[in-house]
Amino acid sequence: MKKITVNLKEKSYPVVIHDGLRNDLPHHINKYKPGNFGFVITSPKIYDLYKGIIKKSFNQKKFKVIIAANGERAKSKECFFRVIDNILSSKQINNNPFILCLGGGTIGDLGGFIASVYKRGINYIQVPTTLIGQIDSSIGGKTAIDTPQAKNIIGTFYQPKAVLIDPSFLNTLPKKEVREGLAEALKYGIIKDKELFCLLKNNPQKILSLDKKLLNTIIYRCVKIKADIVAKDEKEAKGIRTILNFGHTFAHGLEAASKYKKISHGKAVALGMLYASYLSQQLGRISPALTGQISQALQSLGLPVKIKFEPKKVLNALRHDKKFRAGKIRMVLIDNIGKVSVSTNISQKDLSKTLKKIQAFD
Ligand SMILES: NC(=O)c1ccc[n+]([C@@H]2O[C@H](COP(=O)([O-])OP(=O)(O)OC[C@H]3O[C@@H](n4cnc5c(N)ncnc54)[C@H](O)[C@@H]3O)[C@@H](O)[C@H]2O)c1
Ligand SMILES: [Zn+2]
Repeated sequence: MKKITVNLKEKSYPVVIHDGLRNDLPHHINKYKPGNFGFVITSPKIYDLYKGIIKKSFNQKKFKVIIAANGERAKSKECFFRVIDNILSSKQINNNPFILCLGGGTIGDLGGFIASVYKRGINYIQVPTTLIGQIDSSIGGKTAIDTPQAKNIIGTFYQPKAVLIDPSFLNTLPKKEVREGLAEALKYGIIKDKELFCLLKNNPQKILSLDKKLLNTIIYRCVKIKADIVAKDEKEAKGIRTILNFGHTFAHGLEAASKYKKISHGKAVALGMLYASYLSQQLGRISPALTGQISQALQSLGLPVKIKFEPKKVLNALRHDKKFRAGKIRMVLIDNIGKVSVSTNISQKDLSKTLKKIQAFD
């Protein structure tokens, strides 16, 4: 068992990484005294896969299991109100309630958001079941739901009481979803941890077949990086948390240009990191060999390095980004593997010139 603390004074909380933790969930939850009655928010898919564990762990005297929706639909306002109504209709509603989020990043974002707004805030615990959930979304207290206009547009900063990670949940996760998480893991390596980057680059087969030891090391190192960054800049007010957006400015441009349908977030982040790498190279910060290493790492993990897109649409989306000011864009660029910095004055010329490097043609 490993434990990392997210240090936020009176809001500090532990992130526990423990294989098999899911077989003894009530015991682990009770340690943090979140409340008397737990509303377990989960997805239909997790309920189907883990019915046995869920029924055994959450008896009706102390818990109510609420099934939200699969994927991003869990973050719709319809689902949000359905879950809230479900909570309100419970007889246990005044019995010092808390929320337990059991699922991927979407369930964590929804459950965390509900915990933050219900009676202006009740306790919640995260039990993430995807790689993205375990290394990224469950840590840091960003919660949100979507509207048809935009993703994550209604949200709060609200820290959980604890994050309980059982890597063995990943055994049932589709490979495609594992890759989504590996793109974010590679991000942590590039921004802060060269050893992690090399571990990912040199062991793709073992990692993709979910080698326990490697996976636990990867999760631990990613959690540590995120926890440290969040502790220094909880609300993204000091510019420190900004480096977690590495690869994401371009990724969001690509996602917006494809209306969030054609490209997954992980693939967009993979391309966004490579784009940032080419841009860093063009601005004389890094060598072509280093971009080559990043490209190689992405490919070995089954992530894309080229994509078809309309440059105009992506540039337009970048221009609408809140990081775009007075004709210049702000982006996280690479100085070396394990070291990045924020650049505030990238010109449109450099932006469009670099687009060609990752553009695929027929
Ligand atoms: N709050 C944050 O800081 C933060 C950070 C990153 C991402 N996010 C959010 O997280 C979401 C993405 O998270 P995600 O990638 O976990 O997506 P997800 O929650 O949609 O999960 C992906 C798919 O895997 C299924 N699944 C989950 N666990 C499984 C398991 N153990 N076995 C089999 N299937 C399983 C889900 O039902 C879903 O179909 C986005 O909405 C994004 O905005 C939030
Ligand atoms: Zn991301």
